[in-house]
Amino acid sequence: MPSVARCFVTRQLPGPALDRLKAGHDVKIWQQRLPPTPSELAHEAKDAEGLLSLLTDHVDESLISQLPYLKAISNYAVGVDNVDLEAATRRGIPVGNTPDVLTDATADLTFALLLAAARRLPEAIQAAKEGDWVTWEPAMHLGQEVYGTTLGIIGFGRIGRAVAERAKGFSMRVLTATAREGLSEPLKELLREADFVSVHCPLTPETHHLMDAEALALMGPNSILINTARGPIVDPKALRQALEQGGIAAAALDVTEPEPLPAGDPLLTTKNLIIAPHIGSATRAAREKMASLAVGNLLAALDGKPMPHQANVISATTTAN
Ligand code: DGY
Repeated sequence: MPSVARCFVTRQLPGPALDRLKAGHDVKIWQQRLPPTPSELAHEAKDAEGLLSLLTDHVDESLISQLPYLKAISNYAVGVDNVDLEAATRRGIPVGNTPDVLTDATADLTFALLLAAARRLPEAIQAAKEGDWVTWEPAMHLGQEVYGTTLGIIGFGRIGRAVAERAKGFSMRVLTATAREGLSEPLKELLREADFVSVHCPLTPETHHLMDAEALALMGPNSILINTARGPIVDPKALRQALEQGGIAAAALDVTEPEPLPAGDPLLTTKNLIIAPHIGSATRAAREKMASLAVGNLLAALDGKPMPHQANVISATTTAN
């Protein structure tokens, strides 16, 4: 029977998973809608042995150094770019994530955004609601075909593959490229060829602003960019310029830099740009399963066992504390 550990959870999670954590441990949950600031997080988690964090929490070296009892970090996301994996690993702290269970939800949303951007759905819906549907007009709200076109997928991991699977139903030719080496020749080729470019790589130093002015300039004036991965993979200034100058036809983002965009950010009023508030995994089923995996990871680590989904490797010589 593992001993009772102090855990800090940075937000309420959907579904019953947190009850499993509460059943065996002393759990404190941040109750506010906005995430704790770095100093609030350091204060609230100062005694914690287990930390269950969200992608909105910066679990960086500074925070980790202020949490002397920390034994496990469980991130409620598949992406772990908000966690300093190296700092955690140096302390022997395992970092968990929640892969697989959100793959289909995110791939579905990618296609929803792709279709919405291609068919200019938000502006057509708005026109209907605002009384601008006066008759059936041959040249109104003209969008682009999707069926039989070419889809370029950057990053061919779980979600990229699930998007490719969906593209079969639209008879799309699928091109794939990795983003590990930045703007490589195969990636340039994909950008030149694809009608739709969808980003599915993790955010790393190599992929930060991968979609910059140079990359966007390779896409054609009829092409459409979709990003459901991480905001900083796309350079927001370069994207705005490409859209305003007709370098690309449209874009749809589920993720932005920064997140959320502050009121008055020019991207919010950029034409031909759809922005969703990071809802890729937002189905009830996916979010409850993510909670279950995140709690499972934390319970395992607090019990001295490997996390079922661990994003770093802890050698036998660096166990926590
Ligand atoms: C993730 O898990 O990384 C998504 O961005 C949110 O579910």
